[in-house]
Amino acid sequence: MTRKTIRFIRRGKVVEVPGFPPTRTLLDYLRLEEKSRGTKEGCNEGDCGACTVALGRLRDGQVVYEPVNACIQLLGQIDGTELISIDDLATGGTLHPVQQALVERHGSQCGFCTPGIAMSMFTLYHRDRPATRQDIVNQLAGNLCRCTGYRPIIDAALEVCNGQASDRWGADKDEIRAQLTALQESTDIFVGDADSFFAAPANGDSLAALAARHPDATILAGATDVALWITKQMRTLPKIIHLDRIAALHRIEDHADRLSLGAATTYAEAETALAAIDPDIGELLRRLGSKQVRASGTIGGNIANGSPIGDTPPVLIALGASLTLRYDAAWRMLPLEDFFIAYGKQDRRPGELVWRIDIPKLQANDSFRCYKISKRFDQDISAVMGAFKITLDNDRISAVRIAFGGMAPTPKRAPAAERALLGLTMTEPDSWAAAIAALAQDYQPISDMRASAAYRLSVAQGLLQKALTEIAGERTERTRVVGRREKEAVA
Ligand SMILES: Cc1cc2nc3c(=O)[nH]c(=O)nc-3n(C[C@H](O)[C@H](O)[C@H](O)COP(=O)(O)OP(=O)(O)OC[C@H]3O[C@@H](n4cnc5c(N)ncnc54)[C@H](O)[C@@H]3O)c2cc1C
Ligand code: FES
Ligand code: FES
Repeated sequence: MTRKTIRFIRRGKVVEVPGFPPTRTLLDYLRLEEKSRGTKEGCNEGDCGACTVALGRLRDGQVVYEPVNACIQLLGQIDGTELISIDDLATGGTLHPVQQALVERHGSQCGFCTPGIAMSMFTLYHRDRPATRQDIVNQLAGNLCRCTGYRPIIDAALEVCNGQASDRWGADKDEIRAQLTALQESTDIFVGDADSFFAAPANGDSLAALAARHPDATILAGATDVALWITKQMRTLPKIIHLDRIAALHRIEDHADRLSLGAATTYAEAETALAAIDPDIGELLRRLGSKQVRASGTIGGNIANGSPIGDTPPVLIALGASLTLRYDAAWRMLPLEDFFIAYGKQDRRPGELVWRIDIPKLQANDSFRCYKISKRFDQDISAVMGAFKITLDNDRISAVRIAFGGMAPTPKRAPAAERALLGLTMTEPDSWAAAIAALAQDYQPISDMRASAAYRLSVAQGLLQKALTEIAGERTERTRVVGRREKEAVA
């Protein structure tokens, strides 16, 4: 049995959409088909937040509202969710509380940024605890205004996002939960025909079989890369296989010695578990994309896209993660570092799926650090991303794993520097110099628009020095602007 439609909740009712082009974006659906034109198109690549809408999903039986960029969300992806756009917020002539607060605090700006800002605030308004200033700044990192300012918007959010949603979504939450529960069923979705389709299988076996049968299909997880192939590269992508409905691919298993993540786990879903391994990973995720990108983008997508500048692969390689892949009924495992063969080439055959990532946890004598260097603090791609795991036997380095992104055609370890560090002590910083210099043997980075080769090497060497200095006991308030030092202050 297959279903030839997608279904979602809209304005209290179930909407069923049959026969749509596989690459139709949610933004085009809203603006061109539904003619809900309050949602704006700005950049059409997930950067500006003008197109932000809210998706309601069931998480552990509760309805959770997340902001997503409609321009880089494909229509088929919203099956099983509740869709809320800016056109829905006001009731009759009465503004929604977040809209009213924006008006009263003079936070209402132009017609492009304001709808997206209101929708981001709407999802924060529906969080179950009051928002702090930092929560609001994080929430709005993906909503760019290039001309006015954020102070009145932050004031409005501080006033209204108090953890007590008193709008109609708050009042109707039991009914919405029941509607969303009714939409969760186990029929495979297949919209189209054998030559052109949007498919969203409901179980792992039918997914793996379909991917093997159509090795030319595009595997779709969060679409934060793939959608840009459509909106910016104008590719047609006739066959799309979406992973989101497979429960195993969202599973997070917290074992004593390792964290096991299904490949379609979003950053938002994985954030708490990953940050529990080390606070630096939490800080990295806070700066990876925006709330909107993290609500859709997946850990598996960040690996499978093979990017040399993806943020999580260096972290996962330094931690010693391994990958489970599945092709039809055949499974295999490999160390993550071996997955990346060359620029644009990974150890994955067409139709094979990244299934699971197993991440060893840190032991008592392990220390970990990771640092993202980018031109902008928020929502920017790394120029250099460094991750370091150092194991100490008393003060002596007994094992070390260093991995960098942005330094080579793939995310890559630093064998020469690692060798040079083995056996050194943390109490003799002068002895580290040869290892730091050895990074020049490990990497021959390139110059591009993000950074020059010389800058990249120099910053990588600085980061290794910083990691060693911090692990040797330097207080991070002397080495950090933000991040770990707040966590340490709380501890
Ligand atoms: C505004 C913006 C900001 C961004 N900021 C960052 C950033 O700060 N750091 C960063 O690292 N990245 C960033 N990205 C890139 C992107 O969000 C990430 O790489 C993300 O992890 C991709 O995951 P996805 O689920 O969206 O992948 P998709 O776009 O769905 O897929 C990406 C690729 O992986 C393949 N794929 C996905 N899952 C699987 C699987 N399980 N098995 C086999 N193949 C698979 C797809 O076929 C495709 O080739 C940003 C993107 C945007 C639009
Ligand atoms: S239009 Fe800019 S993020 Fe969608
Ligand atoms: S982009 Fe809208 S006021 Fe600046």
